[in-house]
Amino acid sequence: MIPALLLALIPSALAISEWGQCGGTNWSGSGSCDAGLACSSVNPYYFQCVSGAAGPTSTSTSTKPVTTSARPTTTTSGADTTLITSRTSAATSPTTSAAGATNAAGNFFAGRQLYANPFYASEIAAAIPSLPASLKPKASAVAKIGTFVWLDTAAKVPTMDTYLTDIEKQNAAGASPEIIGGFVVYDLPNRDCAALASNGELTVANDGLTKYKAYVDSIAAIVKKHSKTKIVLLIEPDSLGNLVTNLGVAKCQEAHDTYISGVEYALKTLNFDNVSMYIDGAHSGWLGWPANIGPAADLFASVYAGAGKPKALRGLVTDVSNYNGFDLASKPVYTESNPNYDEKHYINAIAPLLTAQGFPAHFIVDQGRSGVQPTAQLQQGDWCNVIGTGFGVRPTTNTGDALVDAFVWVKPGGESDGTSDTSAARYDAHCGYADALKPAPEAGTWFQAYFEQLLRNANPAL
Ligand SMILES: *[C@@H]1O[C@H](CO)[C@@H](O)[C@H](O)[C@H]1NC(C)=O
Ligand SMILES: *[C@@H]1O[C@H](CO)[C@@H](O)[C@H](O)[C@H]1NC(C)=O
Repeated sequence: MIPALLLALIPSALAISEWGQCGGTNWSGSGSCDAGLACSSVNPYYFQCVSGAAGPTSTSTSTKPVTTSARPTTTTSGADTTLITSRTSAATSPTTSAAGATNAAGNFFAGRQLYANPFYASEIAAAIPSLPASLKPKASAVAKIGTFVWLDTAAKVPTMDTYLTDIEKQNAAGASPEIIGGFVVYDLPNRDCAALASNGELTVANDGLTKYKAYVDSIAAIVKKHSKTKIVLLIEPDSLGNLVTNLGVAKCQEAHDTYISGVEYALKTLNFDNVSMYIDGAHSGWLGWPANIGPAADLFASVYAGAGKPKALRGLVTDVSNYNGFDLASKPVYTESNPNYDEKHYINAIAPLLTAQGFPAHFIVDQGRSGVQPTAQLQQGDWCNVIGTGFGVRPTTNTGDALVDAFVWVKPGGESDGTSDTSAARYDAHCGYADALKPAPEAGTWFQAYFEQLLRNANPAL
């Protein structure tokens, strides 16, 4: 049976438009593409209409060991030496039923605005005096743009209470549009397991899962207290992506079961009426590769089922802290042979794989640092303080794609992705690459030169 969402995406049963599904295991729709497009195999269960391509696209096994930048942390953690050799498989959960019902309210971003949090505004206020005069008004404009608050340590959770109280006050005073809160849940044990820059405070070896559950419980208690405010939660950047491609890294292998239990626990525990959750879906240059996209969809669906299909789960957030464009006019060289070379291609390719397994496939996309396209990345996997980037499209629900709820700013632009100090404990080689701006401070701390770069190169201009 073709889920309703898929049917809605097929304007006529006769010809499929660009990026639409045109074949694959058990596909019962049409196999013919619009004029100028060819039906091309992405993997055995997903064929897609693409321009130009004749015959199957690469079936390359290139699992790109790519990590995105994640953000701040304050505590470094060490020991993680115990290897778990038997992994549980990320089995596909069989679902024949329709997608689980999502919160009736649907897209929380529609007709509402994301909270512009005072912490980011304070960082910008401190940066303004040393900016050139021409950039000062641009910086002030950025301080008013809603961004997500990263709960990257247990100690930061109480700020959520403060911010939600402030949001309620502003809404009660007639804020228009209504303000919603946005938070990133980001404290899994062995965090950022394939890189070093954003390693976190918890480890698997030191009973991190128990501590992580307490962290999630403390978030749940605050959500409950503010049940009338709409809250969007982004669940654990990079975590499931690392399980798809980076199990060759010992620290990721060790984290496998804990990441799954932790994410499932978060999804279950934070499943409230006025909450909308998006699991981190990495990005096109990572999970969008043909060899990765199927296993990724299976893992997301499996975790969703494992969490009991929480109705507050809305879909995936992509491109968090990254630089990818949404809908590029041409394919950048550094995307190599990946057919899903921008977020729109990736989203339209993974959505049917998710929908087929009952996973609610709605998306939001971080475009906070994606203003300059193509980027100056030497390789698409370069995630650390990339040179030449600019602030991207302002947050909006006007995405031009029915699958995409909103473009958002998740990474607070101006905070570093990682230090370039080679002697630092969390130094990651990516932050020393030729396309990384240097000297750079520790992840999450203010990087004035980077902020200036984002202001100058903002597109659209600020
Ligand atoms: C395809 O359909 C058959 C028969 O209904 C079913 O057994 C099989 O699991 C399906 N395959 C996939 C990948 O959904
Ligand atoms: C969700 O928020 C609405 C107001 O926007 C409120 O009427 C409703 O009671 C809230 N739900 C819960 C469970 O508190």
